Parts: sequence; structure tokens; C-alpha cells
Amino acid sequence: MKLFRSFRLDPANQCLWHGEQRVLLPPKAFDVLRYLVEHPRRLVTQDELLEALWPETYVNPELIKKYILGIRKVLGDQHDNPVYIETLPKRGYQFIAPVTDHVTEDPQDLSSDVTSNMVGRSGPLSELQTAFRKALRGQRQIIFVAGEPGIGKTTLVDSFHQRASRAAQVRTARGQCVEGFGGKEPYYPMLDALGQLTRTPDSGAVVQTLARRAPTWLIQFPSLVKPEQREALQREILGATRERMVREICEALESLSSETPILLVFEDLHWVDASTLDLISALARRREEAKLMLVCTYRPVDLILSNSPLKGLKQDLQVHNLCVEIALERLPEPAIAEYLGMEFRKGSLPPGLAKLIYRHSEGNPLFMVAIVQDMMKNGSIIDDDKEWRLTTPLETIDPGVPQSLQQMLEVQFERLNAREQRVLEAGSVVGEHFSAWAIANALEEKIDHIEDLCDELAARQQVIKAIGIQELPNGLVAAHYEFRHSLYRQAIYRRLSSGRRVRLHRAIAERLKTLSGPGRRDVASEIAFHFESGHEYEQAARYLILAAENAAGRLAYRDCIQVLQHALKLTSKIEANLGSELETQVLEFIGDAHYALGAMAESAAAYEAAASRAGHAGLKGAQVSALSCMVRPFGLIDPDRGIAAIGRAVEVTRSMQDSLLLARMQMLAAGCRLLYDCWREQDAMICESAHNQLKELGDTDTPPFHKMIYAHVQALQGNYIQALELFERGIPTLNQTTSLMEHFFALSGKTIALLRMGRLGCVLQIVRDGREMAEKNGNDPWLFNFREAWLRMLTLDFEGSARVCEAILQTETAYPVSQPETIARIARGYIAIAEGFTELDKGQNGRAIELFNQVRDPQTTPKFFLHWNWRMTAQLGVSEAWFQSGNLEKASFEADGFLDAALETADPHLKALAWEMQTRVAIAKEDGRRAEDCVHKGLEIVDRFEVPVAGWQVHATAWRLYQSRQQYADAESHCERAQAYIFKIANSFAKEEPLRKSFLSAPPIARILNVGAEKRWAADV
Ligand SMILES: Nc1ncnc2c1ncn2[C@@H]1O[C@H](COP(=O)(O)OP(=O)(O)OP(=O)(O)O)[C@@H](O)[C@H]1O
Ligand SMILES: [Mg+2]
Repeated sequence: MKLFRSFRLDPANQCLWHGEQRVLLPPKAFDVLRYLVEHPRRLVTQDELLEALWPETYVNPELIKKYILGIRKVLGDQHDNPVYIETLPKRGYQFIAPVTDHVTEDPQDLSSDVTSNMVGRSGPLSELQTAFRKALRGQRQIIFVAGEPGIGKTTLVDSFHQRASRAAQVRTARGQCVEGFGGKEPYYPMLDALGQLTRTPDSGAVVQTLARRAPTWLIQFPSLVKPEQREALQREILGATRERMVREICEALESLSSETPILLVFEDLHWVDASTLDLISALARRREEAKLMLVCTYRPVDLILSNSPLKGLKQDLQVHNLCVEIALERLPEPAIAEYLGMEFRKGSLPPGLAKLIYRHSEGNPLFMVAIVQDMMKNGSIIDDDKEWRLTTPLETIDPGVPQSLQQMLEVQFERLNAREQRVLEAGSVVGEHFSAWAIANALEEKIDHIEDLCDELAARQQVIKAIGIQELPNGLVAAHYEFRHSLYRQAIYRRLSSGRRVRLHRAIAERLKTLSGPGRRDVASEIAFHFESGHEYEQAARYLILAAENAAGRLAYRDCIQVLQHALKLTSKIEANLGSELETQVLEFIGDAHYALGAMAESAAAYEAAASRAGHAGLKGAQVSALSCMVRPFGLIDPDRGIAAIGRAVEVTRSMQDSLLLARMQMLAAGCRLLYDCWREQDAMICESAHNQLKELGDTDTPPFHKMIYAHVQALQGNYIQALELFERGIPTLNQTTSLMEHFFALSGKTIALLRMGRLGCVLQIVRDGREMAEKNGNDPWLFNFREAWLRMLTLDFEGSARVCEAILQTETAYPVSQPETIARIARGYIAIAEGFTELDKGQNGRAIELFNQVRDPQTTPKFFLHWNWRMTAQLGVSEAWFQSGNLEKASFEADGFLDAALETADPHLKALAWEMQTRVAIAKEDGRRAEDCVHKGLEIVDRFEVPVAGWQVHATAWRLYQSRQQYADAESHCERAQAYIFKIANSFAKEEPLRKSFLSAPPIARILNVGAEKRWAADV
């Protein structure tokens, strides 16, 4: 810590203190000041500064001038009569104020005095210090400091913060909750604080910890991510949820605190967002050791007014002893006397003054300070020859003091001149903090003039204080100011006529808009707020949409929906056409956000509302878009409604003369019918021809979801390589709200192609990776579990398959309504099939048929994705059961049904299995010709397509056929082919994989493999 005059520079935490107050400086300006302070009383040339601070980049020397200017402003230094920084023309700068080093004392000793006029707070301060000592020992501390406006929460926390950062090596950061931001800016205070931690000199450790432990947070700071890291990072956070984000930041903070203790301050929690509350709750409840202290301030009154869930959280934490609350009381009269004693050290103010101030202010410190200042301004207290005294008798002051704080503040305001009032009014519209830049435009004045005026007000300690300079996103550096207290701001804002308020909000919104270039969403909610207060509802809604994107980027979908609901309300105030357009856009976005949360029914309802709204307003493009979205959630909960919606989208598109859109919709509609309803050749043709047309039209923007549907269709026709390529390309397309589900859809499609291709080991790997990812994110990995169940059926591990599905049924999923029912329905279908085959193995044919029939019955098992594939598998099972029980007639009837159905599809796997069954029935019926005919049909398919699962079965049956005819050479060759397929499947697994072993030892497989073994044994003998 370096001290110079009334300033203290804390290099470790990148902050400059002026007395009790933190001073804002942009990071580079801070570095320039630090360099000068660390090399005092000698010339520092421009080159030296450039070399030291920008070693590898070219920087215009003018920039240094700009920073020096800003630093002078903050220090209150004058160019012609400097006391801090002297300019040596054409040579450089010299820091001329005396600098002393402040040595860190005993880290536990926080009592050392800081120049502060804080009175009456020794109790609360010592509570904070006790907590801090516990935190230093690894016991995390969550402290709430509560009290009415102006009671001194910020003052207390500031004073403690200073002591703590002077006493020990601590990482400190503060996060501010902002009025009107709650819900619009999820995690705002945490991001604010984290931003500070990433700007300190040892921020390397912070960034590394975020990269390692909290990638979902690192990605919120694009400037910290190197371009080459971005893709890996995005993959890493794929599927991340709010829960994961909360867990990650807790872990990162704990890990960081193990090196250096952390003190976080969250201010004004009565305006907090729900996501930050989740975070506080998690931080408080975790049991890991952490040298971490979080101090939060809030006003109980505003908490009740805003109905914030903070109240519930705090009570709950208190009950469990997980937090400490410090309630600040009003100051007693002796404290006021003490305050006067400190403020006016020399002099003879009458003892009755404290009583008078106490009576009026009722011990509210803000009121107390305002009364004292007022008395100085109006000349009741004067500095007479370095002695303070009253100019009028106490009794005459008494009636002159306004009765309420509000009146007091108004009196102070009215004493300012008209121009000062105008500037402050504009400032009050911007908010508690404002930059001269923001209001210069609103008032059509030069920024320098505004700064001069504000500096002067701040120097006179009137209404505002200068808090430093800050770099704006457009690269400008502007002075920032803060109302001395939020009540000052409120008092001034209340005085404005509504017309003037509206005009000022509008002007400020327009000004801020110039900061928000493309891709800059960080000021979106602020701009939206000003537009809304300026009654510019269209612009407000547009910026709320941006703010919602912001929230979605922070995985805070619930907050995202809340912002969008708010935008929706605004759209009703917008002129009809534009309003409807925005309304549909917002509704569709709400649908996306629900979809991302897994709330399928809500998602479908929002899309439906968007489509209907767009339909009424004649917005065909928007209508088609919303209708085509509906198929995604409905696909999971009610496929028929999804199919109907997409059919309607095609109809609407037909009237639009947009051949590209029509081709897209036709491809999607036909594809969905094929996957969710049943396979029809005509739809396969439509799908293909629409795809070709898109190619001809050079379409590069087909949405990923459409492409994935097409890829599934390819896979089901045996075009595995092409399908795999499409899925591969589909997997990395992320970045949007809905992209996660598309990613899963692509992965799921990939596993279907691989299952058909017998590459079961690859599928198992995908399942395991997917599960690991889901676990990291706290997601339910149901999709991957279903793939494992399917995989096990192909390895003939039917019991294992049923077990996996039973576990799916047992899992308590966090998904909202509808989706769990669908998942359960699919699970029950899978279980019936798996158990059916288990019963078959045991010879319980009647029971097996019962189970299979459950799956075939559309009442018991309503439609789901690829349901027809499973119904056909069940039919094959029934045929098998009759066959085993010797009822050839029924076996033949079902086998024929299965063949007809398989031939309707384009699926080589199903077709090959159908011919294989036919062959066995024919052999049993002793119809040699038919058997020969059928087996050839099956063989032809397995030769042409890579379908080894069907392959081994067809060849095994061919072997039996030729064996029975004593055509041993043919039989042997088929046996070898069957074995080759079996080994191909088995070898797709790792050597030690238990599934490989169980597959190879399954009785039907062993029977074929043993043929060779017997022969080898015979040869050995
Ligand atoms: N203990 C104290 N001793 C002397 N002055 C105090 C004390 N507490 C507060 N003040 C004065 O009162 C003013 C208001 O206090 P402060 O801003 O800390 O209140 P707050 O509780 O944070 O209010 P808000 O709820 O509006 O944030 C301060 O600027 C300071 O001048
Ligand atoms: Mg405060």
C-alpha cells in the first residue's frame, strides 16, 4: 500500500482510496498512476511508460496524455500548479508528492484506525472483524448488514473493507445490485465483482482458476478468452445448466481462497436478481473449507416492497446458523456529539447542538450529515479564524431546520443555481451513478462544461461526489459521479415533471444506444429501461430481447423468460403491425427458452401462441417459423400435434412464393412424418427431392434441426456414411438457445446409424461421454440411457436392457410436466420388449406375446420418436414366440405381417430380418424353394448394406438351411460369414468390456461360434 497525501493506492486490489472513498480508474490509468507512484521524484519519460506498460503493442503516445489528464482529474491536481504530477514538457512526467509505504500489520489486527468520521459503530464493526478472523481460519462467512436508507450500511462496510484490505493479503471485490436490473441482469453483482478480480495485477491466477473450475463464468468475459481457446471452451460448457454455473463459481471461489482469502461485498441486495440469490444460498450452504467472506447490504423496507425472495433465503440461512445478520440502529445522541467533535475539532460549538440535531434527525446519520452541511452552507456554523462557532443562537436555528430528510434535501437542492439543477436532474434520470458523457448530450452541452460543473459541486460536497474516471465501451474516458446518497437522487427525480422525465430518459437512451454496437449486449437492459421510461416501447422491447439473450448466455433461462414476459407486455403498447411482429418474435423466444429448460408443454404453448398471433396479423414468415418450431417440443410430448403444425407450415408457405422456404418446410414436414408417424415411400421421396432442391438453390442456411431430421431419414434408409457425415457436422453447431437439444439430436442420430452398423463399442463410448457430461451439468441423461438399453438388446442382453430402463423410470427428473411422462412411456415400451425377449429365452411364449402386444397397442404405448421401429420389433417377437411354441400358422401370419411392414420401409436391417424369419418359417414348413428364395433375398441385402446385426442372423439361418440339405461347403461358408459378423460386432468393443464377453457367450451366438470350435477340436485330434 502506498500513501500520498490523503490518497492510498492498493496495488494488490487495483484500487485507489481517497479517505473513506474508493476512486474509480480504468485499469490502464491505474497502471500509469501506479508506475509514477512507485517511481516518485524522478523523471519518467513517455517511452519508459510505454515500454513498461505496453511492452509488446504499439500505443499512440497521445493515449498517455489522456490517462494523465484523467488521473489529474481524480486527484484534483492542476496542470499549472501541480501537487501530484508535474509535466516536464517534451520529456515526461514526475510524481512530486511525498510517497510513503504502508506496511501491512498483523493480519488479524483490524482495529487500526483509519481516517474516518464514522461514529457509533464499534459494535457492528467488531462483529464484522470477528467474522473476518473466522474466515481467515477457513470458516466461510455470510453476513447481511441491514438498515433503513442512510443508516450507514455502506459507510460501515467501506470502513471494514478498508481495514481488512490494509490488514491482510486479501482479494477484495465489490458487486453492486442496480435498481431495475433485478431479473434482467442475472448474476450482475457477482459478474461485477469478478470483473474487478480479473483486472488486478495477479489476475492470472483468477483467470486460470476460472478456466479450470468455472468455464461457464470465464466465457462471460470474452476479452479473457483467447480465440484459440474459444471452441474448446464452448464444447466444455455444452449443456451447462444454471445449477452447474452456480456450483462452478462456488468451487472457483473456494479454490482461489485457498491461496489468498477473499472478501466480497454485494451492495443493495434489495434489488438483487434471483440467480445471484441462488449463488448466495449455495455459497452459504457448502461445507468445504473456504477463506471466504461475503458481506451483503440491504434495506428491509425495500425488501418488503419488492417482495424479494431474499427474505425467505435469509430466514432460512439464519435458522440453520449459516449467516449472521447485523441490523444497524439509529445513532444515539452521544454518537452525534462525537461526530460533531470530530468534524469541528477546534472550536466552541454549544453542547445543545448535538441534542438539536439528534431531535431533528432522529439519529439517522444521513439526515445528521445533511443538517450539519446545511448549517455550514447557510452560515449558521462558520470557520472563524480556524475556530468553529455558531453565528446565531441555538434557539433561532431550531425552527430553520427542515422537519424531514426529504425537505432537507429539497432545500439544499433549491439553493443551487438553475444550470446546476438542470445537470443534476439529468443525472438523476441516468441513475445513482452517471457519467458526464451520458448527460452532455441530453442537455446539448459540451462534456467539459458538464465535468467542470460537476467537479465544482463535488468539491463543495453538494449532492454528488466524483468517483473517478472510467473508460466507456466506445473508448472515450469520461468522469463519473455518484449521488452522495440514493435519497438525493430520488428527491431530485421526484421533482421532475413527467414530460421532462420522459424527454430526458429518451435522450439518454439514444445516447447510450451509441455505445451498444453489434454484439454488445452489456448495456441492453439499461437502454431498455430508459426507453421504457421514455415511453418508446418499441425500442424498449427490442433492447429487452437483447437483454434476454444476455440472460440466456448466462444459462439463466428463467430470468430470460421473465425479461421476455416483460417485453411482451410492452408490445401491446406498440402500433399494431410492429407490435405484432415483435410479439411473435418474443413469443418464439419464450418458446426457445422453455425448450432449453426442458419445459416442453410450455415451449409448445409459446410457439403455438406465436404462430396464432402471426397468423392473425398476416405475418406469414413469422407464422411459418413458429409452426416449424412446434415440432421440436411436440415431438417429445405429442408427435401428432407436431406433425399437424409442420403440415400447416407447408400450407402457409405454399402461398408465399418462396421456393427455398417451401423446400425447407417440405423436407422438414416429410422428415417428421417419417420419424414420428410411419414410413411412407412418398414422404421419403418428398424429403429427398426437397433436399435436392435446397442444394440446387444453393441454400446454406438450412437450420441445423432440419438437417438433423434429414440425416435421420438417411440413416433409416441405410445411407449410413452420408448420415454420419451430416451428424458429425451437426454436432459442433452450438451457440444458440436451442442448439443444445440439436446437439443431442445429432448425437442421438449418430448412435442410431452406428447401432445399425453394428459399431456398438462406439455407441457405448458416446453413451458414457454423454452421461459424464450430463452429470457435470446436473442434467438427466435419459437419452443416453435409452441408447444403452437399445445397445444391450442388440448384444442379446435383454435383462440388462430392462434394468437400464427400470432405472430411467426410477429417476426423479427435474424436467417440468409432460416430458417425464413421455420418457416413462418410452421406458415402459422398451422394458416390455426386453422382457418379452427374456421370456422367449425362458420358453415362456405366452407371456412374451402378452408383453410384445403391449408395445404394438397404440392405446398402451402411444406414439413416440421411431415408435414404428419398436412396434415392428415387437411383431417380430410375437412371430418368434409362435414359432417357438410350434404354432406355425400364427408364426407365419405374424412373419408375413412383419415382412409387409418391413418392405414398406427402406430400412435394410428390418428387411433382412424379415427375410430371415420367412426363411425359418419356410424351413419349418418344409417348403425348400421358398426357404432358398427368402434366404437369398436376405443375403442380398446384408451383402449390399453394412448391417452386421442382421448379417449374422441371416448367415446363421443360411448355414442351418444348407446344413439340413447336407450342402456342407455352402453351410460352412455361411457359418464363417456369420462368425465374421459376430466378431466384427464384438471387436467394436474394447477387449475388456464386459458387454463384449456377455455378447460372445449369449447362447445363440455361442452356438454359432462353437461350430468352429468343434471343428478345430476335431482337426487337433
Ligand atoms: N456511523 C456514521 N458516522 C458518521 N457518518 C455516517 C455514519 N453512517 C453514515 N454516515 C453518513 O451518512 C451517509 C449515508 O450513509 P450510507 O450511505 O452508508 O447509508 P446506507 O445505509 O448505505 O444507505 P442506503 O440504504 O441508501 O444505501 C454517509 O454518506 C455518511 O456521510
Ligand atoms: Mg448504501
